[in-house]
Amino acid sequence: MELLYVKKIKLQRYCDNHGKLSVIEEYKGIPFEINRVYWIYDVPCGESRGGHAYYENNELVIAISGCFDLILSDGVSEMRYTLNRPDEGIFIPAGFWRELINFSTNAQALIFASTKYNPNDYIINKNELVK
Ligand code: TYD
Repeated sequence: MELLYVKKIKLQRYCDNHGKLSVIEEYKGIPFEINRVYWIYDVPCGESRGGHAYYENNELVIAISGCFDLILSDGVSEMRYTLNRPDEGIFIPAGFWRELINFSTNAQALIFASTKYNPNDYIINKNELVK
């Protein structure tokens, strides 16, 4: 595994008079094999998502539209990012607690995941992070 830490990743972007296009390919702009893609949308005002970590799953989170804040914790220190650009993503390795908050109207989060969905991969007790 070459990247073990949270990292902001600038995505490839192509602009012309017709608009903009960004692209991700496995191991190119994203440091893992993509096994799953999901998206979060229609988050009511004041609601949050996440509130857990994963044992194995690595993710890349992109604000494909609108804006939200991502709070990450390794159990000791906390990082906070505001995501509001569809041409950049936050790489979150397994083991980091995440909370997505402050969703703007029409905010949409696009998430690339390294594993298939597995309910047993969730860490729901924050105290487990420091172990
Ligand atoms: P959850 O991971 O708790 O969402 P969030 O972290 O954004 O708050 O998932 C919410 C629900 O969706 C839960 O019932 C499980 C289901 N789900 C899947 O079935 N497959 C998936 O890939 C994901 C991410 C969630």
